[in-house]
Amino acid sequence: MAGWNLDIINWDNFQKDKVDTSLLKIIRAASLVEYRSGDYVLYLKKVFFDDKEFIPLIENWGYEEKLHGKALAKWLSLADPEFDFNKSYGEFYNNFSININADESVRGSRTGELLSRCVVEIGTSSFYSAIADRCDEPVLKQICLLIARDEFSHYSLFRRCMKIYQKSEKINIKKRIFIAIGRVFEAADDELASAFYFGNKLKGKYNRKKASNEYAYYALKLYKEIHVNKGIKMLLKALGFSSKVTIERFLSKFVFLILKIRLQIIQFRIN
Ligand SMILES: [Fe+2]
Ligand SMILES: [Fe+2]
Repeated sequence: MAGWNLDIINWDNFQKDKVDTSLLKIIRAASLVEYRSGDYVLYLKKVFFDDKEFIPLIENWGYEEKLHGKALAKWLSLADPEFDFNKSYGEFYNNFSININADESVRGSRTGELLSRCVVEIGTSSFYSAIADRCDEPVLKQICLLIARDEFSHYSLFRRCMKIYQKSEKINIKKRIFIAIGRVFEAADDELASAFYFGNKLKGKYNRKKASNEYAYYALKLYKEIHVNKGIKMLLKALGFSSKVTIERFLSKFVFLILKIRLQIIQFRIN
């Protein structure tokens, strides 16, 4: 069980005049993706079918991800009463499918699966931290801080478990870096793009590249170097490197520069 529920959120503190409308677009998409954790629970339970200790932890993880979706959907019902969460979720669910029938990890090993889960949790923990730092609306800030804390603990859970499997699977560092970088680039895949498309009722037929660029435009704007730095530290730790401040700083500056360039390119394309 998560350390919180919807009742501990101070909904009475909601301030409509402090809602940032550009944040609404990514919160709509995030609420749909978070709420859909059940499919990933089924998939992970198949991949780790004989790991009796890990299965309940996967179920709890899925419960917490769904709670994130519920909290964001409830906030949207205040900030954006015209948004029909159930309708958008139904469209997203019916038009984007997740392969839950895999008998083994699509990453080729359990270590690889857990490493890619770590990458996802690094992404979500920095994403919600960035929103919490950016937004002025107190209820959304409270929700994002709670979610960011959960995402960090999910990262720790998957990293701990990955270290156990790594002992027997011994996936070499080259392969681990390849898996991690591959998962970072999957951020532009269909899931976020279609959640953004259906959550925001974009005009025209679904176009992955277009929806993905628009999502990235609103999301990348939120990041400051401090969020990138935290993510780099977590990634290096997940890859098994010991902490080296100079390397972390260099990589953070480099990645932050890439993000800024990408943002400029996207801005040029969508305008
Ligand atoms: Fe989440
Ligand atoms: Fe998570």
